[in-house]
Amino acid sequence: MDLGLKDKVVALSGGGRKGGIGWATIRELKQAGAKVMMGDIEIDPAYEELTKDGTVDTTALDLSRPGNPEKLVQRTVDRFGKLDILINNLGVTIFRSGFLGVEDDDWDMIFRTNFLSNVRASRAAMPHLIENKGVIVNLASTLGTTPTPSLVDYSAFKAATLNLTKCLSEEFNPQGVRVVAVSPGAVLTPHWTREGGAFDMMAAEQGVEVETLRDEIIPKMFGMTTGRMVWPEEIAAAICFAASQRAGSLSGMALTVDAGSVKTI
Ligand SMILES: NC(=O)c1ccc[n+]([C@@H]2O[C@H](COP(=O)([O-])OP(=O)(O)OC[C@H]3O[C@@H](n4cnc5c(N)ncnc54)[C@H](O)[C@@H]3O)[C@@H](O)[C@H]2O)c1
Repeated sequence: MDLGLKDKVVALSGGGRKGGIGWATIRELKQAGAKVMMGDIEIDPAYEELTKDGTVDTTALDLSRPGNPEKLVQRTVDRFGKLDILINNLGVTIFRSGFLGVEDDDWDMIFRTNFLSNVRASRAAMPHLIENKGVIVNLASTLGTTPTPSLVDYSAFKAATLNLTKCLSEEFNPQGVRVVAVSPGAVLTPHWTREGGAFDMMAAEQGVEVETLRDEIIPKMFGMTTGRMVWPEEIAAAICFAASQRAGSLSGMALTVDAGSVKTI
């Protein structure tokens, strides 16, 4: 299926880690002939290969700071001449001991870095998206509708993301801008796999091997009917579809790609 993404210009936040959802999405977009600017505070050297032919570029930005999400949008337009698609992919996750262990500063960090950066990028992008009948894709999570106490602040951020997706769709879809969300379940990304990441923490806590966690404990814990975690390429495919004109009647809603873990319908 041709998604018609050739020559579309995309800004994507928080894709700096090789193997993450942003990384997988950029590879897919590049293959489809799109041009992408990626902004992140830390950029994996593996991006050198992706940026060689000039269709992908990166910009180092702390997106939690006011003015920097706006810079991501401006640098995209400066580099590629327009903006068609904004992918608000940034989403920092920190495991908590529960509600009482989360201080004001923690709430502030999660909402400033994750939510407010998306708000700022969306606001800066909107005039361009109105002009080009563009699309915003927000990365939500199944935790936005099925929250967990160990990610109490992150779950609230994802609920807010779903809410904002609907609200912006109500206001801007009549002006030609679609605003959609993609809601992943647990995806096999560096968030889980990197040294000191979620697998290492859980393996130490539970005294089990990482492979056992990945292949048995996590799929069972999340009720994944597929029997395995979601692959980043599967989320990338959903994002690319949502961003394409093939999804022209999709707005204000989330595509859920969760390996069957959410039990409600
Ligand atoms: N991985 C999962 O299991 C999963 C599940 C559901 C939803 N999601 C969502 O999908 C999206 C992508 O997830 P992922 O696991 O690929 O991401 P990730 O955890 O691999 O990447 C997070 C990125 O954020 C960057 N970052 C941190 N602070 C920053 C700052 N101040 N400014 C700019 N960049 C900063 C990091 O450098 C990193 O590249 C997120 O919104 C996440 O919430 C992920």
